[in-house]
Amino acid sequence: MTIEQLLREATDKLKDNGYVHGEREAMLMLQPLFDQDTAWFITHGENEVADETIEQFTEHVEQRISGKPLAYILGTQQFMGWQLACDERALIPRPETEQLVEQVVKQVRDFKLESGKFLEIGTGTGAISLSLKKYFPEADVTATDVSTEALELAEENRARLKVDVDFIESDLFNSVPKEQYDLIVANLPYVPTQKLEFVSEQILDWEPMIAIEAGEDGLGYIRPFLNDLPKYLSSHGIAAIEMWHTHADAVIALAKNLPHHEVIIEKDLAGFDRFALFLPI
Ligand SMILES: C[S@@+](CC[C@H](N)C(=O)[O-])C[C@H]1O[C@@H](n2cnc3c(N)ncnc32)[C@H](O)[C@@H]1O
Repeated sequence: MTIEQLLREATDKLKDNGYVHGEREAMLMLQPLFDQDTAWFITHGENEVADETIEQFTEHVEQRISGKPLAYILGTQQFMGWQLACDERALIPRPETEQLVEQVVKQVRDFKLESGKFLEIGTGTGAISLSLKKYFPEADVTATDVSTEALELAEENRARLKVDVDFIESDLFNSVPKEQYDLIVANLPYVPTQKLEFVSEQILDWEPMIAIEAGEDGLGYIRPFLNDLPKYLSSHGIAAIEMWHTHADAVIALAKNLPHHEVIIEKDLAGFDRFALFLPI
């Protein structure tokens, strides 16, 4: 079978199963098996494909049809331009979280905290902390997660990105060194239990529930996080979180215990209130 035939067959199969971007997804799954870019495939469509490669590719297409996210099949996900290792041990980093990083990068520059002490709670793949360390090599970055598996993946990504971040296993702030941080960032689980029915099956079936569900009101992690935040955030430091789109008022109310900070709510690209920034007044 030729490359072109293989791609066409896979595209049809994916589209028949409701994957509207079947063509692109088929190409993304084939590329790593050849280690070539899209342009190469356009000019080598007539090449015969080895049986072994056909077998591997067919298995990936079947996995995709069964609902497995592309990032878990490929074993990688782009985040802020870096290629992170990504598998079932942690949540797939999302474009919204890239927006969170962009906003944090801007605030770190505005408040001149580039060489400060940074802390992330709930790091998953390590996406946020590793990106911040890339942007601010002078910063001292610590990141936590309660999941040992997620931390193992984050450590693999630390090696990939060749940066120095301290990873600690911790339930929220419980094992975090009692110090004052210049930046504290968190994308903790925030989906209210009763809203899980609106989350896509693909997410619920494949991504770790420990990264998604956050109790009846969805504040099961953000509430204790905000309660403890004043003990760790320096008075000139900044904090930032990602949140469920209806939680802005609750978050503003919970942040009343931060007397030296104002809360700014920012929207995601879909226009939903998604981020809260805590900035020194
Ligand atoms: C929504 S995911 C975000 C992961 C990553 N920061 C990102 O943005 O892609 C939430 C993360 O918080 C972690 N987590 C859940 N409960 C936690 C807790 N009590 N303390 C620390 N981390 C927790 C999960 O394991 C998961 O990695």
